[in-house]
Amino acid sequence: MATDSTPAPVITVDGPGGSGKGTLAALLAERLGWALLDSGALYRIVAVVARDQGVPYGDNTTDEQVAALEALAGRLEIRFEAGKVWVDGADLSTEIRTEDASTRASRVAALPPVRRAVLGIQRGMRAAPGLVADGRDMGTVVFADAELKIFLDASAEVRAQRRYNQLKNKGLSVNLRDLLASIQERDERDRGRAASPLVPAQDAILIDSTDMSVDEVLERVLAEAKARGLC
Ligand code: DC
Repeated sequence: MATDSTPAPVITVDGPGGSGKGTLAALLAERLGWALLDSGALYRIVAVVARDQGVPYGDNTTDEQVAALEALAGRLEIRFEAGKVWVDGADLSTEIRTEDASTRASRVAALPPVRRAVLGIQRGMRAAPGLVADGRDMGTVVFADAELKIFLDASAEVRAQRRYNQLKNKGLSVNLRDLLASIQERDERDRGRAASPLVPAQDAILIDSTDMSVDEVLERVLAEAKARGLC
């Protein structure tokens, strides 16, 4: 149990896009009654607001552009509320989930000043009774002292298929081959970047969800949480 001097417990769920980490983190947070941090949403927000405000960036972003992005990330007023994302009073929940936002988020996330600006928001969400945080560097950088660290993976093909099904269910028209190519391109950028690359923490539990149902993954992680006295 967290006291004034001990920080609230954290469970981190890291992994590539489409591994199911968002779904797992949301279910875990619900089962435990803990808060949820979707850290990818923060990079998506910075990317979408920068796009809409005409702040340019790309693979060869200049120092001035990076400084503008860092300033933008630092001044946004972000609220997560009942599954919705509010930014400076506007509901961006749908806007940040497009493929365009995914690609842009992966680009801004590679910039260390943007990551620094987002760090304070992330750590500020740690509060009793606990926090489930999902992303790429939750267990390696942001909450390196987390009580339980999960690294969830799945084959790129299965991840593309899951994303395809998600988008189809929302009535969006998508192409499976394009999705696979986009997932592979983002994987490469997220794993290969110098700043907080996507790697499992040394003390993370690795779970390959390729052939597992959501419930199987959830039960496995709850068993690990129980073993650590977290529930
Ligand atoms: O998890 P997601 O697909 O919503 O993340 C969007 C992008 O943000 C992804 O390409 C990687 C980046 N990201 C990151 O660099 N660090 C995090 N903790 C979370 C996401």
